[in-house]
Amino acid sequence: MKLNIAVLPGDGIGPEVTAQAVKALKAIAMEFNHVFTFQNGLVGAIAIDKTDNPLPEETINICKKADAILFGAIGDTKYDIDPNAKIRPEQGLLGIRKKLDLHTNIRPIIAYDDLLTKSSLKIKQIKDTNILIYRELTGGIYFGEKKLSEDGNTASDICQYSRHEIERVAHAAFQAAEARKGKLTLVDKANVLESSRLWRRVVQELEPQYPKVTLDYLFIDNAAMELIINPRQFDVILTENMFGDILSEEASVIVGSIGLLASTSIGEKHAMFEPIHGAYTKSANKGIANPIASILSAAMLLDHFGLYDEAARIREGVDKSLKLHITTPDLNTKYDNISTTKVGDFIEDFIHNPDETNLNFTNIHLGQSTII
Ligand code: IPM
Ligand code: MG
Repeated sequence: MKLNIAVLPGDGIGPEVTAQAVKALKAIAMEFNHVFTFQNGLVGAIAIDKTDNPLPEETINICKKADAILFGAIGDTKYDIDPNAKIRPEQGLLGIRKKLDLHTNIRPIIAYDDLLTKSSLKIKQIKDTNILIYRELTGGIYFGEKKLSEDGNTASDICQYSRHEIERVAHAAFQAAEARKGKLTLVDKANVLESSRLWRRVVQELEPQYPKVTLDYLFIDNAAMELIINPRQFDVILTENMFGDILSEEASVIVGSIGLLASTSIGEKHAMFEPIHGAYTKSANKGIANPIASILSAAMLLDHFGLYDEAARIREGVDKSLKLHITTPDLNTKYDNISTTKVGDFIEDFIHNPDETNLNFTNIHLGQSTII
């Protein structure tokens, strides 16, 4: 298969982790006889520095022409601490989502057996957790009208949703639930918010089209608690933009590190793949950023094009790296010097040599002297 992939490394740790994902994709192309071409674009704080625009026109054009977009991370503390900044890096990411109409964001939350002890939660609570969060990505309070009064003392952000916006992400979530355990949980705040009541109405109207799916509801505050005390009860979670942002980051506690969470954002015409973690500027260029979320985003990209064996190879490589403790310091209690690049090299090597023994991998990648 030929794929033209736009690569937007962005800010902070974005470039280092994205480089590992590109490495994995190049190895996949070589092993499975595909032709993947990559074209880089500027976005975020780095784009502001170079062009005064967090989302240059050229970047949007690269994305529009591409079959898929691989995104790194966005943000910079110098903007985070300045509430008066008119131009912000995040406008780059939000602009891409809106301009390419990437309305449905899918975030898998999977508890890996090899990492259960890394979570601050109890193993018996989190073992076998496997959740898909369907987050609406181009509406709600993120994109509603924003106002600041002239005297600067009153501000508002409108949370607005249309039936159409709810329907398209809801259909996708129902279909996902149908193909899984058949349970869909709508998370909202329908006891308070009018927009949430519209979500309930629309989702209830779609329910009869999916007789195999059991639909239930949770208010966001209650869902935030249930997700931690009993995550296994969930199969597919459907929710609006901001609740999905918060819940998915909370869910990283189950998995053990936010450095593991990947995502897909899709619309009718375009698809983007990105880790859910941020730019973590203070960790940039130290070789400590976990590249797995980015590498797993590359696996989601392959799934999107039906390249399931290829995606599985990447995931097996990730599993193996976790098993052999070839992981960055956020997860590693055994070795203290495994860098971002080293994890990427390991997974690249696994893609080429999946049948190598554990011992060989350990010897090669941990620098032990004898290669059996
Ligand atoms: C995410 C991020 C973004 C969001 C930020 C960087 C704008 O937190 O993708 O979860 O809030 O959507
Ligand atoms: Mg977030």
